[in-house]
Amino acid sequence: MNRITKLLKPKLNSLWCAVICLAVVSCNQLQQGRGEITPASSTDNNKKAIAEFWPVLDITVTKDKAVEERINKMISEMTLAQKVAQMIQPEIRDISIEDMRKYGFGSYLNGGGSFPNSNKHATPADWIELADKMYQASIDASLDGSVIPTMWGTDAVHGHNNVVGATLFPHNIGLGASRNTELIEQVAKITAREVMVTGIDWVFAPTVAVVRDDRWGRTYEGYSEDPEIVKSYAAAIVKGLQGSVGKDFLGDEQVISTVKHFLGDGGTVNGDDQGDNIASEEQLFNIHAQGYIGGLSAGAQSVMASFNSWHGVKNHGNKYLLSDVLKERMGFDGFVVGDWNGHGQVKNCSNESCPQAINAGLDIFMVPTNAWKPLYENTIAQVNKGEISQSRIDDAVRRILRVKVRAGLFEKPSPAKRVLSGKTEVIGAKAHRGVAKQAVRESLVLLKNNSRLLPLSPKQRILVAGDGADNIGKQSGGWTISWQGTGNNNDDFPGGTSIYDGIATAVHNAGGEIELSEEGRFKQKPDVAIVVFGEEPYAEGHGDIDNLAYQRGNKKDLALLKRLKEQNIPVVSIFISGRPMWVNAELNTSDAFVAAWLPGSEGAGIAEVIFTKASGEINYDFIGKLSFSWPAHSQQYVVNRFDADYQPLLPYGFGLKYGQPSTLSDQLSEELNIADKALRKLEIYQAAVQKPWESFISAGDTPLAITSSVENISAISFQTIDKQVQEDAFRLTFSGNKTAIFSFTSNFPEDLRGYVETNSSLTFSYRVDEKPSHQTLLTMQCEGDCSGSLDMNSIFEAAPIGKWQVHSIDLKCFTNAGVDMAKITTPFSIETSGTLQLSLADIAITPNDNKEAIQHCN
Ligand code: BGC
Ligand code: BGC
Repeated sequence: MNRITKLLKPKLNSLWCAVICLAVVSCNQLQQGRGEITPASSTDNNKKAIAEFWPVLDITVTKDKAVEERINKMISEMTLAQKVAQMIQPEIRDISIEDMRKYGFGSYLNGGGSFPNSNKHATPADWIELADKMYQASIDASLDGSVIPTMWGTDAVHGHNNVVGATLFPHNIGLGASRNTELIEQVAKITAREVMVTGIDWVFAPTVAVVRDDRWGRTYEGYSEDPEIVKSYAAAIVKGLQGSVGKDFLGDEQVISTVKHFLGDGGTVNGDDQGDNIASEEQLFNIHAQGYIGGLSAGAQSVMASFNSWHGVKNHGNKYLLSDVLKERMGFDGFVVGDWNGHGQVKNCSNESCPQAINAGLDIFMVPTNAWKPLYENTIAQVNKGEISQSRIDDAVRRILRVKVRAGLFEKPSPAKRVLSGKTEVIGAKAHRGVAKQAVRESLVLLKNNSRLLPLSPKQRILVAGDGADNIGKQSGGWTISWQGTGNNNDDFPGGTSIYDGIATAVHNAGGEIELSEEGRFKQKPDVAIVVFGEEPYAEGHGDIDNLAYQRGNKKDLALLKRLKEQNIPVVSIFISGRPMWVNAELNTSDAFVAAWLPGSEGAGIAEVIFTKASGEINYDFIGKLSFSWPAHSQQYVVNRFDADYQPLLPYGFGLKYGQPSTLSDQLSEELNIADKALRKLEIYQAAVQKPWESFISAGDTPLAITSSVENISAISFQTIDKQVQEDAFRLTFSGNKTAIFSFTSNFPEDLRGYVETNSSLTFSYRVDEKPSHQTLLTMQCEGDCSGSLDMNSIFEAAPIGKWQVHSIDLKCFTNAGVDMAKITTPFSIETSGTLQLSLADIAITPNDNKEAIQHCN
């Protein structure tokens, strides 16, 4: 088939469908996923497509006859309930040890920011204790005869990142810049060792997404926009985590790895997290599947199904991809684990029931929340009713047991007695931090270096500024202790260093002078200023953005850079980010500019590159090269090596070394694209609170900033809840003890006059869970003592309990009530002195809103 016909294929398919299958099966069903319901002729078609696009892999781990016999014997002794339990993976917040003893789950996980006893500062001993108890309970649950240990999976995605004190490596985007596969294998090896200290068997890494649209909130979890690096890195990481066959494969210091998220997660339309990938099959293979070629060939024992769809069909239910391609054609004989209730997103499924996913080839349901119990019961019932075949169940269990045998879980002692268990000195060990520091050095990409300002002599008077300078949480990004990477401070990183720490050491050792001031103030004029700034941490969909402009509408870091420049102080910018961003103005205002990505806990690695030795010699040169093209304007979010019309600001592979002339002009265009200037929806809360707003609760006293998913004070509590995806909404409970208020507030007043001029409205989704007992006010506040409130009781009282509603209020209602739109500090707050339970989501100011849904005020 030539290129054109391949690209046309989806269309041809529908045509074929319209003509041929009307009588056989509805087109809808057929197009929904090669494979969910497949007439014979399409199976032949599938076979042809498979052979055309997908290779048979040369996998280093092969089947062993004795192992297969052993597994078969076990399977023959298991009850259906025990088999299904192997396929259920609950989360530590939702099951007890007793549940494990009763059901004997095949595995369990802790999600991002989920710790033993819900204690962020849980010690390695606490982790081991939980691992050991779960293990023992799973043994108790086993059949007479065959004992089947459970296994624990965790997201160790840049080191053992849920554990305080662990070595945190740069996120994958930074590792991609280093182009060093040996280093990457070392990083993975160390991660495996630190994980083994806590008694955990399995990690959900590496992410091998090939990121095509930098607006995606998981861009930084990818090594590159190009499959080349991803493929070779995947193999190296898998080897580092699992060890090598014939050597240390799944030995005492290794963990099971998961190549994720299968398939096409980095290529969704608009970079939408969990969205739809519409790549042709050829592109799916050439671009998105390359990490699997690398990782599976190296022997990765598990694959995680992705939340995304391919041509509208959720991967968790796509038999063609999970079974026909991955297992049958490519020859993967490990297991496919689902992603966080991802099965619930398959058409006609819920978190509690999804035979479609099992039938498509999912082997383990990742089922956090209390959905695990109904899911377990429903799955058993579905096998009994014949909706899932016994042989599919046996195949899934065979795959799970095969991995357990290969991992030596039947032979290894309980987690507490394993070789590395409890060796706390291994966590955050000096040698480990040394490798992480090397990774930091090699990940830095020098974008600009006017007059060879870098490297700096450490003997000078140095000013360090910017809110990222002394902030290990910020420099580490998402998936850092907490899921979103928020709510951490430097004390949460014992043994780690901020970027400032490294600079201070270099300067002090050489006899230079240093001042640290976030706002860039100084007592004595410095010779040079190093300004560290960039994105705040985020994870997954919470990091999705709609264009790449840095600090659009709130150029506070640019103001700082300008202030220093105006005083004739040379400026070195260190930019922290999970993706390339449009920073033309910041580049213009910097003499040197370093893309530092998300370096992790060893910030000191940066000073080792940007400073010379005291003698003036170069200490370490820059090695990093862009693994993502750098955008020329804010709308250039899809810009990838080999694009037909490739015009980035800086191309893939760019990265200056010392001594090379800087090529960037100081007069890059600072014009925002027209499209950006048009008023677009101003989001206040969209799955998470949006910058510059922050959320607070208060009951007369000092407002409490909301930094985690649950916050409580006397009269009001806040809790994130799930509306469409996890934690995209929140519930407020007013107890009625006192007047209490929830608000979104910013320190920088926003000028919203343009929104009033374009007939915008304040829009939000709400659900009344318990009606208000007293008056409830929705208030906007402006700088100075200025505010305007609307009484919401009639609306909340009329709303049906427990049902999501959308409401919009003409902004003029607020101006009528006395609000000055030129300086809004709080665009939304809710206040009552009575009792009320109210859930909220999708809060925004929407221009030219559809008038029908609007609450008008004359
Ligand atoms: C949980 C995290 C988890 C994440 C996965 C969140 O709702 O709090 O623990 O890792 O979902 O998407
Ligand atoms: C993420 C996965 C992660 C899982 C468990 C999901 O939301 O997509 O990458 O492994 O949560 O925390």
